[in-house]
Amino acid sequence: MEKHYAVIGDPIEHSLSPRMHNAGYEALGIDAEYQRFHVKPSYLAEAVDGLCALGFSGWNVTLPHKEKVTSHLDTLTPQARRVGAVNTVKIHEGKRIGHNTDGDGFIRSVEGNLNGFKGKKAVLLGAGGASKGIALALSAQGMQVHILNRTPEKATVLVELIKHWGGTATSGKFAPGDWIEDVDLLVQTTSVGLRGEPFPFSVQGISEKALVVDIIFNPRETAFLQEAKKQGCRTLNGLGMLLYQGALAWEFWLGGQAPVEVMRQALYRAQS
Ligand code: ATR
Repeated sequence: MEKHYAVIGDPIEHSLSPRMHNAGYEALGIDAEYQRFHVKPSYLAEAVDGLCALGFSGWNVTLPHKEKVTSHLDTLTPQARRVGAVNTVKIHEGKRIGHNTDGDGFIRSVEGNLNGFKGKKAVLLGAGGASKGIALALSAQGMQVHILNRTPEKATVLVELIKHWGGTATSGKFAPGDWIEDVDLLVQTTSVGLRGEPFPFSVQGISEKALVVDIIFNPRETAFLQEAKKQGCRTLNGLGMLLYQGALAWEFWLGGQAPVEVMRQALYRAQS
């Protein structure tokens, strides 16, 4: 193999990224291989040095290393600096460059279903790492962002960060409110629903024009998304975000256009 790529995380056995990237290399006849490695937090520095020593051209970084890995890199792209987290590393002329494609991957996954972003209202449920990347990317597109989190202090910190980067943001109670009537984009970023459990509150009365996204993709349709669908909203799960963060990582590493449809089919096959 001429080029080697990987994903590192803890846990990592359920990662669909190898399937998606390897299907793309095969389709385009690229002499490369994408592997996955289980890296415990206490071995992160050694793992990064090891990937460099072994001649890897780049790798993805997933939980729980996205923030910690920044201190083992040489430079960060503006996208990575803005979020303070890295999901993609490229080795370029011996230097370790940290990048983040999560936020722009989310943007690409929803843009076909929204008639522009500027001045529209996004409500995010949750204020963890995933919410942060998405909120900053939506704000960079000119959306007004409203963040609801069970622990309100974390939503306040995120609002301040968005304002720091020049965006417009507010926070509120983790409950239905006026926002439900005029939201353009509702994004569920908490871990509620991963085990098939119901969502703590109803979205009854939500504006029918809203696009509702749950970043969970396994199960394919959370109880939250099912209810949004019943209210007449268009819905998307998190598979699109996974796909496009991968496609953008591919393009950062290899240039050109990633074979998005091949990668999408590989993800569908891996899920079934
Ligand atoms: P990630 O990086 O995947 O976003 P995280 O940083 O651990 O993960 O964030 C998890 C998010 O899910 C947080 O917003 C968390 O809310 P708190 O900040 O109040 O902890 C939210 N979350 C997890 N379980 C929840 C529950 N049962 N009800 C409401 N929110 C929940």
